Amino acid sequence: MSVAEILDTMDYGPAPESDKDARAWIKEHAKAGLYIDGQWREPESGRWFETSNPATGEVLAKVAEAGQADVDAAVKAARRAQPGWARQSGHERAKYLYAIARLIQRHSRLFAVVEALDNGKPIRETRDIDIPLVARHFYYHAGWAELMASELPDRVPVGVCGQVIPWNFPLLMLAWKIAPAIALGNAVILKPAEFTPLSALLFADICSMAGLPKGVVNIITGDGATGEIIVKHPAIDKIAFTGSTEVGRKIREATAGSGKSLTLELGGKSPFIVFDDADLDSAVEGVVDAIWFNQGQVCCAGSRLLVQEGVYDGFVGKLRTRLDTLRVGSPLDKAIDLGAIVAPVQLERIRRLVKQGVDEGATIYQSRGELPATGCFFPPTLLTNVEPASTVARVEIFGPVAVAMSFRTPEEAVALANNTEYGLAASIWSESINLALDVAPKIKAGVVWVNSTNLFDAAAGFGGYKESGYGREGGKEGAYAYTKPRWVKGARPLVEALPPKPELGLELTGGAIDRTAKLYIGGKQARPDGGYSRPVASASGKLVGEVGEGNRKDIRDAVEAARKIQPKWATTSEHNRAQILYYIAENLDARASEFADRLRDLRGVRKAKTRLEVDAAVARLFAWGAWADKHEGLVHKPPFRGLALAMNEALGVVGIVCPEEPGLLAFVSLVGAAIAAGNAVVAVPSMAQALLATDFYQVLDTSDVPGGVVNIVTGDKATLALELAKHDAVDAIWYFGAAETAAAVERASIGNLKQTWTETVARDWNDAAVSGSRELLRRATQVKNIWVPWGE
Ligand code: NAI
Repeated sequence: MSVAEILDTMDYGPAPESDKDARAWIKEHAKAGLYIDGQWREPESGRWFETSNPATGEVLAKVAEAGQADVDAAVKAARRAQPGWARQSGHERAKYLYAIARLIQRHSRLFAVVEALDNGKPIRETRDIDIPLVARHFYYHAGWAELMASELPDRVPVGVCGQVIPWNFPLLMLAWKIAPAIALGNAVILKPAEFTPLSALLFADICSMAGLPKGVVNIITGDGATGEIIVKHPAIDKIAFTGSTEVGRKIREATAGSGKSLTLELGGKSPFIVFDDADLDSAVEGVVDAIWFNQGQVCCAGSRLLVQEGVYDGFVGKLRTRLDTLRVGSPLDKAIDLGAIVAPVQLERIRRLVKQGVDEGATIYQSRGELPATGCFFPPTLLTNVEPASTVARVEIFGPVAVAMSFRTPEEAVALANNTEYGLAASIWSESINLALDVAPKIKAGVVWVNSTNLFDAAAGFGGYKESGYGREGGKEGAYAYTKPRWVKGARPLVEALPPKPELGLELTGGAIDRTAKLYIGGKQARPDGGYSRPVASASGKLVGEVGEGNRKDIRDAVEAARKIQPKWATTSEHNRAQILYYIAENLDARASEFADRLRDLRGVRKAKTRLEVDAAVARLFAWGAWADKHEGLVHKPPFRGLALAMNEALGVVGIVCPEEPGLLAFVSLVGAAIAAGNAVVAVPSMAQALLATDFYQVLDTSDVPGGVVNIVTGDKATLALELAKHDAVDAIWYFGAAETAAAVERASIGNLKQTWTETVARDWNDAAVSGSRELLRRATQVKNIWVPWGE
């Protein structure tokens, strides 16, 4: 046999990692039960479930299934532990996180093997990616514990956090949840996914080894039913969830009105865009990392390949060739590329969706490499001939399946990329930095990788736009998600009086309709669709005027106007937005006396007092003008050759339902912050003081505000708030008022999973540090991280 023949026929030999230590640990420890208050206990529920190795089907361990009494015990332990933990100095907390990071590194091989056994992912990935990132997360957040007092002086811990995580990166998701939470003084109850509980139990051992005060970390195993108990538990202050969009919706609904803060990291169908000037061989390797990494069970997997027409055929050819070289096999074999799918039910789902894709006309290409005879394996798969509307191009398959489509122009690429309900990540391949950085901000996704994919770092926040959820994990933005403003602690509930009713017999009728202040939509005054108006009375019941009674149709028109202008407004330079805000302030100042008169009539207090509110509103608008070009992003320097640019981007269209008091100052505080950040707004003003908002559109008219950036719909706050919450073209809703309506708003927001900010406590609108600060701009923006590599 010639050397050439030998090379041709040479196959990989097996390179198995030993699982001896991992199995010994599983045998000894995994049956210990639940980790509550620093101790292992058997579940009071008396129930246990099995966790298996998906590569072989073998049962690895029996794990406790926590019920209500178990969750109660964990919550009690966390509540007891949290105040003391928060009182410790940041430095003390940092030392624990640092110790945990060191211990994870010291036991990294054990973790890597346990994870590979329980999840089915290749040891190569757990060893080189998952576990190092886990350690990095604890080191990084040890830093936030250390710096909390100086860098987040106005923030306090949220309290007790319930955390529910999925099975695709079991230990990494645990780290993303637990590290920031405990660094910033919270206590946690974490539930790993039922398919992959083992590494979380090993982590509990690490907490004990690190001497972490008991009750700070509690690990509860169980399935969705246990997750539901956590989510609904009244003594938990925050829920952090990663998993499917479907369960994310249920959690939003279950937590509505509970006062719990919520972050959701959900599914994706992320585009992987290849321009014709891309380095195609690198891009092929990119696809391997994008969709065949972790068997494609990655929320930000680049599962939709969008390839420019001129290179489409060549690129697909290269991909098929590469596909054939991928090796699927035992997760513990160090020389395989893909391991096992997590569970039979997931394998079935992948098979079903791929079959549906083929039934709908897709051409299928699968790796010719052999699959193991038994176990949950699926070959790396490429589907071509796919339409943007096909099921496989829309639905998250969560398996090693890429779908490829072509595009002609960069504009078409952006349109296709954004043609999804999701918005988690995107990957852009082009040798032209100008093109890549022009496209990156146009894609609605929380992370964009240029000439790279699936890069993560603790310093760069991760999270989605649209139905991929809200909130960020990692980075400083992630630290905000585990803290709350100091003033909120002990704030009084917001009690709103109903607007005064005019004395009987004073209603304006008939021809008086002309005196009704209209709605303000798309930069024009608009009669309310229903043709009804509502009287506005002074504090003593005198009729002061009438405003339009807005309805669903008016909200729809206002949202449409806002949608139309918003992309343009968001890309207007910050300098221009600042100028316009200054101009609004100037014009309000010029009419300050008139507004003070109006306020005096409405409130029945002396003008000297109302003038103060108008002056404060002018100052607030100036402040937003000042902030408009200063709420800048960050440049991260993660441990790779390149940068991650954290950009603060507008949310889009924001519905703002203002508090009743102070009618003018709250209105400009909220609307000003939102538009300074590049959002377009549909505002529902105070009912009692609606005339101030309708007077205000004359100020807007004279201040060069593009039509549609601020829309004002007057009427019943609760009704209009619900219309905004239900509207799928509204990206976020802010509601200030009664707790009952706040709950309804949260519940109604699940359609497009819009971000909600509902506040039912009394805020000091006069205090600029509270109501004119970056806190509001953070609410008005979301962070996108754009990763830009350098070097050849
Ligand atoms: P899932 O969303 O049902 O499970 C995630 C976690 O939520 C698990 O810990 C589970 O026990 C818990 N859970 C389930 N129902 C719950 C409820 N009502 N209340 C509270 N917690 C609950 O995901 P599953 O069923 O494992 O996978 C189904 C599909 O979800 C996958 O095929 C994939 O498309 C998607 N998925 C997306 C993930 C992501 O990171 N984006 C992660 C896991 C799954």
